[in-house]
Amino acid sequence: MRRIVAPFALLLASTACTSMSGEMPLSTATPEPMVSPILTGPEALDTLTYAQPQIARVTHVALDLALDFEGQGIGGTATLDVLARDDAREIVLDSNGLRIASVTDAAGRDLPFTVGEAVAEGGKGAPLTITMGDARTIRIRYAAPEDAEALQWLSPEQTAGGEYPFLFSQGQAILNRSWIPTQDSPGIRQTWEARITAPKPLDVVMSGVRQGEPEDLGDGRRAFRFVMDKPVPPYLIAIAAGDIDFRALGPRSGVWAEPSVIERAAREVGDTEAMIAAAEDLYGEYRWGRYDMIVLPPAFPYGGMENPVMTFLTPTFIAGDRSNNGLVAHELAHSWSGNLVTNAVWGDGWLNEGVTSYFENRIVEEVYGKKRAEQEAALAFANIEETLAEVGRDAPGTALHNDGSGELIGSAIAYDKGHFFMRTVERIVGRERFDAWLRQWFDNHAFEPATSALLLADMQENLVRSPAEAERLMLREWIFEPGLPSNVARPDPAAFAAVDSAVDTYASNGTIPAGWNGWTAAERMRFLDNIPKDRSAAQLAELDRQLNLSGTGNNEIRFLWLELALANRYEPAVPQAEEFLARVGRAKFVRPLFAVLMGEGEWGQPIARRIYAQTRDSYHAVTRAGVDRVLGIAG
Ligand code: BES
Ligand code: ZN
Repeated sequence: MRRIVAPFALLLASTACTSMSGEMPLSTATPEPMVSPILTGPEALDTLTYAQPQIARVTHVALDLALDFEGQGIGGTATLDVLARDDAREIVLDSNGLRIASVTDAAGRDLPFTVGEAVAEGGKGAPLTITMGDARTIRIRYAAPEDAEALQWLSPEQTAGGEYPFLFSQGQAILNRSWIPTQDSPGIRQTWEARITAPKPLDVVMSGVRQGEPEDLGDGRRAFRFVMDKPVPPYLIAIAAGDIDFRALGPRSGVWAEPSVIERAAREVGDTEAMIAAAEDLYGEYRWGRYDMIVLPPAFPYGGMENPVMTFLTPTFIAGDRSNNGLVAHELAHSWSGNLVTNAVWGDGWLNEGVTSYFENRIVEEVYGKKRAEQEAALAFANIEETLAEVGRDAPGTALHNDGSGELIGSAIAYDKGHFFMRTVERIVGRERFDAWLRQWFDNHAFEPATSALLLADMQENLVRSPAEAERLMLREWIFEPGLPSNVARPDPAAFAAVDSAVDTYASNGTIPAGWNGWTAAERMRFLDNIPKDRSAAQLAELDRQLNLSGTGNNEIRFLWLELALANRYEPAVPQAEEFLARVGRAKFVRPLFAVLMGEGEWGQPIARRIYAQTRDSYHAVTRAGVDRVLGIAG
């Protein structure tokens, strides 16, 4: 396919290249991937890859893989195009458990390779070093290991239909090296293509554009072809396969899901075209062509994953009233923040998640109105405050920029503090100027990696107008200091005024709010978040009776209810929790529920162990690793 020919000045281009601003072509007319300069300053050094991109880097990946549902295996060939210094004789790739059968050049001549020592923990895996000589195309014949961390093979019983198996992948952050031999670093962008074969009648989707109709191979299998012609960080390569149907939503969007889920799924995401239009209005053209989604079985370990042209979603966001659609706005927003402009290192994850959380809120405001946006922002703000109170306002991990050494602190910092940083800047300089700045950030750094230092320099160059304004903005403090700067643009206290007073009333005299049925989902969550944590069985029974918490169709509400009930050792909630934990694998729900049980001593711990013995095998590696830690099981 395309070979990227670039001068080595670009391959080796140096650090925080703010001087690039305005010089990159804005046009997307050309399908040719732009070669991004690699940031090589210390803050852009990805310690989670073995790759040495300054010497040799992968520019294109061509996969030819067969899915084997019986053996739960995936294997075939990966052909890599390499851009390397003239004197480079080796290339280093990332591998986590890959079984390498052979490595050859384009002419089929064997190339020597070694797989180094694997790092025991953290999923970094091992370096796969190939002696390529002057070859610049290398073909690797391999199979993914049975327990490849990125992949989850579902039995038919784990699907809604119950008849066919299912497969999905999750690449972020460093899981794709368990099924694709390439340089698995967010700063090393690659175009890719794939040919995937699967047994009939299963359908395959990927985070690339499907090419034509699947080819019938005549042996009960079909071959599907995909192309991603824009350079993407390799964590965004994703696959799903199963008995799935498609519904168009609009001219460039649609949704895939199992046949029995497709109607509910399509109804829930019915605002997608409006969201794309709102997003484009805010920050510029959607550059990826189609925007499709797949609603996966409930084992999917996240709420959503922003795989290009094919967002992956949990079915647990479906509430029947679109109340959890911030999720769709969020994954869509990643088409700019994250997929166009990408954190160069995971310690700058806020550049993806924080900017996206802000952008999500702006889309929600456009599509669902100011009140809902402000309430969702207020929930995010409460999450920051709760987390800071828990870990301390000077805990180093509460800075937006992390060197990667600290513990990750939930979603409060990268997501919510990042969101409130953007919001604060917006309030200080005004929406018009802020939006213009963010739009040019996406345009000028499109298809490039970014760091905190680059964003700071970009704001100083393209946004800040005077030293006095710089002082008011406190940019450096926001990005590099722990805690919450004093200039934070707090949420409107009126957002939850009615709910907060209902909380006070309930706390003082036990009156359960009569207005609950008319409340928004965010209001209900605010109420359940803020009522006194210590509840008797009688009080919990009364709450459940009047608010029908155990019968709710909204899983965010169900989760808060189960958390509250289990924390109070409420027996009737145990079978509900058991059913939920057996069906749902979303880590955000599963991990905290096990943590609550483990916090309840001789009452909760045996329950947690009993349930986990039943459910562990049904969870994705991400969820399993999280719950293993909670239960003290060595990984
Ligand atoms: N990119 C993330 C999911 C992710 C984060 C995967 C870190 C692996 C490592 C995705 O966009 C996300 O943020 N999902 C949230 C959605 C929510 C904030 C609306 C989720 O899964 O809950
Ligand atoms: Zn996200």
